Amino acid sequence: MAEPIIIANEAEVFAGKVVTFSYRQDGIRREGILLRTKDGLRSYENVCRHLPVKLDLGSKYFLTLGQDAILCQSHGAIFELETGLCTRGPCEGASLKALPIEVRSGQVMLLIRDEVE
Ligand code: FES
Repeated sequence: MAEPIIIANEAEVFAGKVVTFSYRQDGIRREGILLRTKDGLRSYENVCRHLPVKLDLGSKYFLTLGQDAILCQSHGAIFELETGLCTRGPCEGASLKALPIEVRSGQVMLLIRDEVE
């Protein structure tokens, strides 16, 4: 089993901030996002469930104006922060791909097999 990879210091992930990171899974370079919700930290793959494009389209803007949901910049789909569930938009009912994370000694670890680049 591969060692988990540090993707952020927990203290740096405050409400309203979205941390991005790269990793490889199944030999493919991917991007993840990490954010704080009222239920704790959550991480998702940075890919919309409507079309295979980055949620932010490279802009680094991931949240709605009220910072209470994730927004896909392409067609305006809205996803819950805590669950990744799409509640409005063309992929309503689908969920973002959640990434497994864990906090150890103040470090947020990504628990997947391949390495962060
Ligand atoms: S690509 Fe995200 S809503 Fe269409």
